[in-house]
Amino acid sequence: MAKRTIVSLPGDGIGKNVLEETIRVLDAAGFDAEYVEGDIGWEFWRSEGNPLPQRTIDLLGKHKVALFGAITSKPKDAAFEELAPELQEKGLVYSSPIVGLRQHFGLDICLRPCKSYIGNPLNFVKRGVGDVIEEPAVDVAIFRQNTEGLYGGVEWSDPPEKVYDALMTHPKFVKNFGDTPKEEISVSTRIFTKKATERILRAAFDHAKKYGYKSVTVCEKPNVIRETSGMMYKMAQQIQKEEYPNIELWNTNIDAQMMWLTKNPETYGVIVAGNMFGDIVSDGFAGLIGGLGFACSAQFNPDSGVAVFEPTHGSAPKYADYEISIVNPIAMIESACMMLDFINENGIAANIRKAVAEVISEGKVRTYDMMKMRGRADVVDKGAASTTQMADAVIAKL
Ligand code: NAI
Ligand code: MG
Repeated sequence: MAKRTIVSLPGDGIGKNVLEETIRVLDAAGFDAEYVEGDIGWEFWRSEGNPLPQRTIDLLGKHKVALFGAITSKPKDAAFEELAPELQEKGLVYSSPIVGLRQHFGLDICLRPCKSYIGNPLNFVKRGVGDVIEEPAVDVAIFRQNTEGLYGGVEWSDPPEKVYDALMTHPKFVKNFGDTPKEEISVSTRIFTKKATERILRAAFDHAKKYGYKSVTVCEKPNVIRETSGMMYKMAQQIQKEEYPNIELWNTNIDAQMMWLTKNPETYGVIVAGNMFGDIVSDGFAGLIGGLGFACSAQFNPDSGVAVFEPTHGSAPKYADYEISIVNPIAMIESACMMLDFINENGIAANIRKAVAEVISEGKVRTYDMMKMRGRADVVDKGAASTTQMADAVIAKL
C-alpha cells in the first residue's frame, strides 16, 4: 500500500512529548507513513502573531489527516504581553487554533470514545448488592456537534438595539426580562441548524451500525429547551425509524445522564449531543475510564475527509519542562488508533489497542496518574513509568 502522509501538529508543552512517543508506537506497529510537521500553538502566536499560520492550514488541506498534541492558550493580557515587541502595536487578537481548524475545515463531527481497559486502576468502581465491589465495563462513543450551539460565538452583553428589539418580540422575553435595562443583559445564543444536526445524528447512527452498538442515546433536554434539543430528538426519531430500525433510540436529559453515568454507565452505547452537552457528557464518561491520560478524540468532516485526532488533555505547562516527561501517552496513542480506523488501517489499530490492553492489565508499567501520585518531577524515581517507558512497554508488546 502507498505510504501515507500524516500531518503532525505537536503544538505546545506535553503535546510534543506524547506525539513523539505515539509516532514511535505507530512505526513499531508497522504503520508505513511519512510525517510532515505543521506549526501550531503559542510559540507561533508569540513570534508571528498567529497560532495557526496559513502554511499549516495549507498543509492540512493537502494531506487531510493530522495527529495533534495540544496547545497552550492564555488570557488576553498575557497573550498581549508575550507577543513579540514589534507585533504589539498591530492590534492582533489571539484566537484558539483548534477552533480555527474546526471552523476552517468544517470539522463538525467530534467523536470521543470512552472504553475502560481491564486492570486500569483508575477505572470507576461502585458498591453493588451485598456490598460487592463492581467495576462496570464502560464502552461508549460520544458524538458531539462541534461547530454550533452555545459554542457558536453569537453572543452579546448589552445587545445592539436591533437584537434587543427582536428579543422584545418574544412574549417570554417581555415577561421575564422586559423590565431589565438593556445594559444589564447578556445573551448567548444556542443555534442548531437542521443540516448540522442531521450530520451529527447520522454520524452517530452510522457508527452504532458499523461497530455493533445496540443503542443511540440523544442526550439533550428537549422537555425544557424545546426548539433546539427538541429538533434534535425529533430528527433522531425520524432517522432511526426510516434508516436504522435495528438500533434502539434512547433519550436522556443531560442532568439525569450525569446521574445515570455512575449508576449504570455500562448500559450506554453511542451517545449524541449538541456542542455544550456533548462536551459535558464526554468529560463525565472520561472520568470513569481514567481521566485525561486516557481520553482520546477525533474531529472530522465526513465529506472532505479532513480529520484531526488529538487527546482531550491540554499542554499541561507545569510538566512541559521536566527533564523526563512523566505524562501518560495513552490518550494520544488511542487518538492515533482512531486515526488508523479512519483511514481503514483497522488491523494496525487493533494490534496497538491489544498491546496497550496487555500493558495495562499486567500492571507492571504505570504512569504517575495510574499510580494515583501527584504529578512531580520525582515520580519516576518513585516507580512511575515515564512517557517514554510507557511507549516502550507498548512497543514491546507489539
Ligand atoms: P491540561 O489538560 O493541560 O492539564 C490538567 C492536568 O491534567 C495536568 O496538570 C495533569 O495533572 C493532568 N494531565 C493532563 N494530561 C495528562 C496526561 N497525558 N497524563 C497524565 N496527566 C495529565 O489542562 P489545563 O492545565 O487546564 O490547561 C493547560 C493548558 O492547556 C492551557 O493553556 C489550556 O488552554 C490548554 N488546553 C489545551 C487543550 C487542547 O490543546 N486541546 C485542551 C485543554 C487545555
Ligand atoms: Mg472540554
